[in-house]
Amino acid sequence: MTRTETSSDSVSIDRNAPITAWTPTLDLKQIKTSPDDFGLMTYDPAFMNTASCRSTITYIDGDKGILEYRGYPIEQLAESSNYLETAYLIIFGELPTKTQLANWSSDITAHCLLHENIKKLMDGYQYDAHPMGVFLSTVGAFSTFYPDAKQIFDEQSRKKQVHRLIAKVPTIAAYAFRHSIGRPYVYPDDDLSFTGNFLNMLFKRTELKYKVNPVLEKALDVLFILHADHEQNCSTSAMRTIGSSHVDPYSAMAGAAAALYGPLHGGANEAVLRMLQEIGTIDNIPARLMGFGHRVYKSYDPRAKIIKKTADAVFDVTGKNPLLDIALELERIALEDDYFISRKLYPNVDFYSGLIYQAMGFPVTMFPVLFAIPRTSGWIAQWEEMLLDPDQKITRPRQVYVGKKRRDYLPLNKRG
Ligand code: ACO
Repeated sequence: MTRTETSSDSVSIDRNAPITAWTPTLDLKQIKTSPDDFGLMTYDPAFMNTASCRSTITYIDGDKGILEYRGYPIEQLAESSNYLETAYLIIFGELPTKTQLANWSSDITAHCLLHENIKKLMDGYQYDAHPMGVFLSTVGAFSTFYPDAKQIFDEQSRKKQVHRLIAKVPTIAAYAFRHSIGRPYVYPDDDLSFTGNFLNMLFKRTELKYKVNPVLEKALDVLFILHADHEQNCSTSAMRTIGSSHVDPYSAMAGAAAALYGPLHGGANEAVLRMLQEIGTIDNIPARLMGFGHRVYKSYDPRAKIIKKTADAVFDVTGKNPLLDIALELERIALEDDYFISRKLYPNVDFYSGLIYQAMGFPVTMFPVLFAIPRTSGWIAQWEEMLLDPDQKITRPRQVYVGKKRRDYLPLNKRG
């Protein structure tokens, strides 16, 4: 196995190493104590040291704080690209040419409307339904609207679902938000950019044409780029696992979105805001700081660095979020604290993103939904990669059974 040791407890993978250098764990089965022995099996709860796939999409070096999509550094994409172009890159593997970008943009624009019955479906939710619950169940409902999506091995059909998903998730998200505040849904506006149109569907009131603030539009776009993919995280693994049963992509993505909802994953930005609101004084700092720590990053999350810069631009427009001072102080204390230093716990992507979202006018319940919109591109790319990978089969981990030995059923009157 080729790897570069960078510290005692973490490993950064040498991406130039020949892929064959990795040990397929199935080979371990050949190590047996007797011919009828099952063979050696690895036990790896939470997949701390098990690669489930070979991927060409996202590269992370957690020790050095490097994140790249298809080889392009996240810093360069955040600076020079936009979300729609980055989504194309993630899904198709290369930056688009001018013509490809124009076609891609018009395909996405063409698909951003929702079927009117989806609106009826969403109307059925309670007024205080969590928008992420609404989001993930609506994505699941799409499988009933687009039965053609079951043709997962038909390239044209897959392409159509890609267009639908990328285009429709902002519309679902915006409708979920408008539903929660009791305002009428706003139809997409083709004249606007991807993020500009999203802001229009969220915040338009009675004006004839919504005027997009370019700073907020750019900030949201940068946040979308930063959240677009992050290799084999919890929700992406869910997407691949569910997709490995060959179900349609909408059903698989409903599961991925559900995984993202949890407070240890995409729900963390919501949890950070609630935590900052509750802290008040130093005595109230909780044992587990939400927005700190990461399974892969053992240095500053490169996305958190970019977000901090974006926050300054947004606060110039919206005014400073009063929770920012608490967040900065918390970060300062944590980064000087032995507990956090020894465990290499740094702010992650979610520590500052919520402050920006809140300053832009989003309620905390919308935060995980704002994560799910751009992550859709990553989920789809990873799903397609899994489908076309000849190494992949239906996901089915092994277990180590530690329960009771075989025993006989006792009738009710004989149980103690
Ligand atoms: N605050 C305090 N202690 C922490 C934190 C934290 N946020 N995160 C980890 N630790 C501690 C653990 O208690 C553990 O300590 P121990 O060795 O004394 O037992 C040690 O650091 C290692 O942590 P693990 O929980 O083993 O790390 P794991 O990789 O399983 O967890 C996770 C990663 C879930 C992100 C964790 O750091 C966490 O819960 N963070 C807060 C939630 C959060 O911000 N999630 C968003 C992640 S980014 C994303 O999903 C987009």
